[in-house]
Amino acid sequence: MSVFPFMVFLFFPNELVLVSSEFVHSELPSRITALSGSCVQIPCRFDGSVISLTNTESVFGVWIMKDHAFANPGVLVVFNGTANITKGFSHIEILGNLSQRECTTVFYDVMNNHSDKYYFRVETPDQRYTYQNPIYISVSDSPQPLVLNHTNLNDVMENTTVNLSCSAEAPCPKQPPTISWSNIPESAHITTQLQEKPDKTQSVFSHMTFKASYMDHRRNISCTATYPRKTSNDSTVETTVMLRVLFPPKETRITIDPSASVSVGTNVTLTCKSKANPSNDMNYTWYKRGQENQLDFGEQLTFTVNRLSGGWYFCKAKNEHDFQISEEIQLILAESLSLIIGCVVGVSAFLLIFLLITLFLRVQRLKASTIKETDVSDQGQEKQVQISSIYTNGAFVSGEELEMPKDENDVVHYGEIDFSTPQTKSSTVKSSGQETIYAEVRGPEKEMNQD
Ligand SMILES: *[C@@H]1O[C@H](CO)[C@@H](O)[C@H](O)[C@H]1NC(C)=O
Ligand SMILES: *[C@@H]1O[C@H](CO)[C@@H](O)[C@H](O)[C@H]1NC(C)=O
Ligand SMILES: *[C@@H]1O[C@H](CO)[C@@H](O)[C@H](O)[C@H]1NC(C)=O
Ligand SMILES: *[C@@H]1O[C@H](CO)[C@@H](O)[C@H](O)[C@H]1NC(C)=O
Ligand SMILES: *[C@@H]1O[C@H](CO)[C@@H](O)[C@H](O)[C@H]1NC(C)=O
Ligand SMILES: *[C@@H]1O[C@H](CO)[C@@H](O)[C@H](O)[C@H]1NC(C)=O
Ligand SMILES: *[C@@H]1O[C@H](CO)[C@@H](O)[C@H](O)[C@H]1NC(C)=O
Ligand SMILES: *[C@@H]1O[C@H](CO)[C@@H](O)[C@H](O)[C@H]1NC(C)=O
Ligand SMILES: *[C@@H]1O[C@H](CO)[C@@H](O)[C@H](O)[C@H]1NC(C)=O
Ligand SMILES: *[C@@H]1O[C@H](CO)[C@@H](O)[C@H](O)[C@H]1NC(C)=O
Ligand SMILES: *[C@@H]1O[C@H](CO)[C@@H](O)[C@H](O)[C@H]1NC(C)=O
Repeated sequence: MSVFPFMVFLFFPNELVLVSSEFVHSELPSRITALSGSCVQIPCRFDGSVISLTNTESVFGVWIMKDHAFANPGVLVVFNGTANITKGFSHIEILGNLSQRECTTVFYDVMNNHSDKYYFRVETPDQRYTYQNPIYISVSDSPQPLVLNHTNLNDVMENTTVNLSCSAEAPCPKQPPTISWSNIPESAHITTQLQEKPDKTQSVFSHMTFKASYMDHRRNISCTATYPRKTSNDSTVETTVMLRVLFPPKETRITIDPSASVSVGTNVTLTCKSKANPSNDMNYTWYKRGQENQLDFGEQLTFTVNRLSGGWYFCKAKNEHDFQISEEIQLILAESLSLIIGCVVGVSAFLLIFLLITLFLRVQRLKASTIKETDVSDQGQEKQVQISSIYTNGAFVSGEELEMPKDENDVVHYGEIDFSTPQTKSSTVKSSGQETIYAEVRGPEKEMNQD
């Protein structure tokens, strides 16, 4: 290898040659994977010990493809900053400030034929140096797989906080991928940012944190990254992870086969249903209200109904974490069904009576209610007369009839009002005996002028 720089020295007298076999390196990742139709940003810093950067105006960067000996056949100088020439690429841009030894470069619109080794070279009017370590750019038509990182998702205890992260390579930070999550738990909180990795390449990092619920057991959470591309459709890459939550029995309930009302002599099966994880070593215990001891063990309780079988049953489901007791469920003997029908009839009758009483009380209350009346016989001055009840030709006017329709304002009701009733406590009405008055009964006055 040491022969090679010597040869270069022969042809290019300005070339700096290190006699030592330890070459001066530029700080480049050894490999980067680019997406075709997108750009690729190469993080780069170079060692300034071999070159003097005093004249900041005239420091130029050069990128050489395939081999650092650019005079060799097949080698292409893809970018010469000194002459400002780009070859084989549509555009190459050095972002870094070369006089500060920063040579970060963006190669735009990369294509599959760009997959190769690239060397960085720095040129000043009197010094040139090609760094010996290349970066291998690998151009792919599909994005790199996503990286999921999480705390053991297979054994998450209920209510514990779960951290899940998804990262997508961003070889072109100017057009980073967008990350989206699907089928996320309700309590999920997500933060997403562009992050620099130790080799200075970038990635979009999305962090999700949530409290595991038993509802999340077997939930398949997906992370999707969408990469914008110039030459073709956006490409997406997705990854899914299944969550497994450990939890004590939940939603414990009983089902009865064939039905909750059975006749003596039939076989009945009560099944205790429960959600739990783990559920393979569940223990079920059966109880009946009023009996101290358990009836049986096992998921199902089967028995032939006898006269004493009626009553309230409940079960207890237990796994290694905890237990849960179901609601009580009633088993009714079909014999006693006629009794129940009798009860239903009795209750219905009672309800009817209750309804009638309520109606009666309501009528009484309405009688006692007050309405406002405007005395139209008194011109100009509006006087409000408080009356406790109104009779139209002796017939009772219900409160509903007097109530104004909400949308119509000035609907006038004319009624023959008998003020001779002792409940009339009005001193303002100058009524005499059985005199008939036409009263304009109004609902609550509405503002008419709507300026
Ligand atoms: C870059 O261009 C300059 C000016 O034309 C030239 O002197 C130099 O040799 C070129 N560098 C390479 C590596 O071709
Ligand atoms: C280099 O050339 C491109 C066109 O190929 C031009 O847009 C750009 O301004 C030039 N840069 C310099 C520093 O001359
Ligand atoms: C890659 O192919 C395109 C045409 O498809 C061509 O213009 C370009 O020069 C090629 N680049 C390299 C580095 O071979
Ligand atoms: C690059 O850095 C030098 C100092 O080392 C500074 O003078 C110059 O303005 C910088 N150039 C740019 C484009 O920031
Ligand atoms: C996963 O996250 C842990 C800390 O949460 C970290 O130590 C580890 O390096 C991460 N692994 C990867 C591949 O990012
Ligand atoms: C988890 O939280 C819920 C609601 O706060 C609670 O009902 C349940 O018992 C908790 N589970 C465990 C295993 O602590
Ligand atoms: C999850 O992350 C939070 C902070 O983001 C941390 O407090 C918690 O300990 C993490 N949980 C686990 C299980 O790593
Ligand atoms: C999640 O995916 C697995 C395997 O792909 C499947 O067996 C499971 O039923 C899925 N979970 C849900 C809740 O759909
Ligand atoms: C984009 O996607 C559409 C439909 O999926 C397809 O018909 C079309 O050929 C694609 N275009 C390119 C450039 O891949
Ligand atoms: C009820 O079950 C018992 C035994 O479990 C069986 O001998 C009997 O024939 C069953 N009766 C009916 C009506 O299915
Ligand atoms: C269920 O009962 C069996 C036998 O009585 C016992 O060995 C086992 O530990 C029990 N399991 C649980 C989860 O309580």
